Amino acid sequence: MCGIIGYLGYKDAYPILINGLKKLEYRGYDSSGIAVFDNNGYKLYKTKGKVSELEKKIISGSIIQGTTGIGHTRWATHGIPDDINAHPHVSNSKELVLIHNGIIENYHSLKVILLKHGFTFKSQTDTEVLVNLIEYIQKKNKLSLEEAVRISLNEIIGAYSIAIVERSHPERIVIAKLGSPLALGINDREFFIASDPIPFIDYTKNALYLKDGEMAILRKNKELDLRKILNNHKISPIIKELKINIKEIEKGKYKYFMLKEINEQPKTILDTLRGRLLITDGLIYIDSIESNKDIFLKAKGITIVACGTSWHASLIGEYLLEELARVPVEVEYASEFRYRNPIIKKKDIVIVISQSGETADTIAALELAKKKGAFVFGICNVVGSSIARNVDAGIYTHAGPEIGVASTKSFTAQITVLVLLALKIGKYRSTITDSRYNYLCKELGSIPDKVNSTLKIDDTIKRISKIYHGVNNFLYLGRGINFPVALEGALKLKEISYIHAEGYPAAEMKHGPIALIDESMPVVIIATKKGCYEKIIGNIQEIKARKGKVIAIVNEGDFQVSMLADHVIKIPNVSEELSPLLTVIPLQILAYQIAFILGENVDQPRNLAKSVTVE
Ligand code: M6R
Repeated sequence: MCGIIGYLGYKDAYPILINGLKKLEYRGYDSSGIAVFDNNGYKLYKTKGKVSELEKKIISGSIIQGTTGIGHTRWATHGIPDDINAHPHVSNSKELVLIHNGIIENYHSLKVILLKHGFTFKSQTDTEVLVNLIEYIQKKNKLSLEEAVRISLNEIIGAYSIAIVERSHPERIVIAKLGSPLALGINDREFFIASDPIPFIDYTKNALYLKDGEMAILRKNKELDLRKILNNHKISPIIKELKINIKEIEKGKYKYFMLKEINEQPKTILDTLRGRLLITDGLIYIDSIESNKDIFLKAKGITIVACGTSWHASLIGEYLLEELARVPVEVEYASEFRYRNPIIKKKDIVIVISQSGETADTIAALELAKKKGAFVFGICNVVGSSIARNVDAGIYTHAGPEIGVASTKSFTAQITVLVLLALKIGKYRSTITDSRYNYLCKELGSIPDKVNSTLKIDDTIKRISKIYHGVNNFLYLGRGINFPVALEGALKLKEISYIHAEGYPAAEMKHGPIALIDESMPVVIIATKKGCYEKIIGNIQEIKARKGKVIAIVNEGDFQVSMLADHVIKIPNVSEELSPLLTVIPLQILAYQIAFILGENVDQPRNLAKSVTVE
């Protein structure tokens, strides 16, 4: 995926674009570019690397002035990250300049046609094909830019959000969307375009999210002209006021967003529970569950679909829903689910989980489930995202903007929602006793405080990180509800420190991974008191017998594991169902500290993007 930005108004465009691109770097950061227009044409700069590299290049070049501009930060799909494949892309006549987020699936066949018509290509990108297709259609039929864009987009298979400017008409930008997000900020006499509204909230809070199949023609000092790509029908724009708190998207005292987001978890969990858990009345109230009570009450089975960290939360959801609500649950990778013929019948429940709400595989899985007649329920963080808009009902996690590429607070928020859901359905179906329900509700209310105490183990983890940051491999073990936490701990370490790590159910170790264990192999083991504690002690002994190093996550007051382990990280006591909300915290901090010692860019790990809006 990529980030796109644009400005049309009366201010100098360059600072708005460059600062906006920095805020969009979570979407991709392998190359970037900017084009700024005035009445004499445009200046275009692009370069491999982060936006800071682009900034350096522009400072050493001439200053760009102009009140219309577009910019792009890239996460490569077609073609390696380099200066040539970076956006904006320019048509053969140099008249049209385009930025694009998404994938044009039929770009190859279009390229063959354009080559036959004499077009040439410098880059390996699908975007350069699109800009030339628009030019070809415009010239051949003598069309306005907007009409050429519209007709071209009707020839496209794939996903896009685009912004395009014509050199001879810098007073106009045409934008369009299908599948990839596009927000438009609107002020008196100015328009702001961005993949999400964060780059422009300093300037305006009035925004409109383009819907799939919509395009807009933005003209200086003119009203917004919103249309349907299919048939050019005019649409009345619905402009809403954004409710984003600027503090949430600043690093504050933290060096990295990831560290800030780890430390925010007491608050974010509280925000997830707010208005939904009324402990004093033993009440869980969630509108979207209440209004679909019958569906949940009669559920014969639930399928949960997600990717990455959200998939790990789904595995925890499986445990919770089966344990508390006694509903059979299947958890699927969205990327697998979408390409097989899953057995989903009319009215079956499919839950999709996604932080961003824009993950391409999860969106495709959602669409497949809907096509099969399922009731699709979403658990999403980003308000107004594609998934949030397309599900039948759902719950927002309310974790606030998550900027670090490695998910942290969104994971604990997802688990919190899944606990609420499982308790609520369990109550409907009378699969949970009143006393257990009340106990868990009360304990859930105390989780933010317990996460707060867990965060205090920072120093212990710093010491452990100093010892092990140089190793090549880590093993993470957990059992039951904490097995997905082991998977999540391993994913966090891989993502940001590039150390190979694997998560395993502790008892599976003897079926293979035990072969890896020697004196240089650290094994992180979740050994909290519940969940087969005695068996876990056995697993630890197996590791120690092979000289492996054990880093154990234990409960306060633990004695047995603490005697055996090389390093002990103590967390507060809590019921097993809620334990992932605490056990994951040390694993997040461990990954962060190791990556930090290694000097890696924690928020922008190589090869990754915050939300994967392409296949
Ligand atoms: O936005 P989503 O929750 O749908 O994203 C799914 C994964 O791409 C995401 O969790 C990814 O694995 C993160 N980088 C994990 O830290």
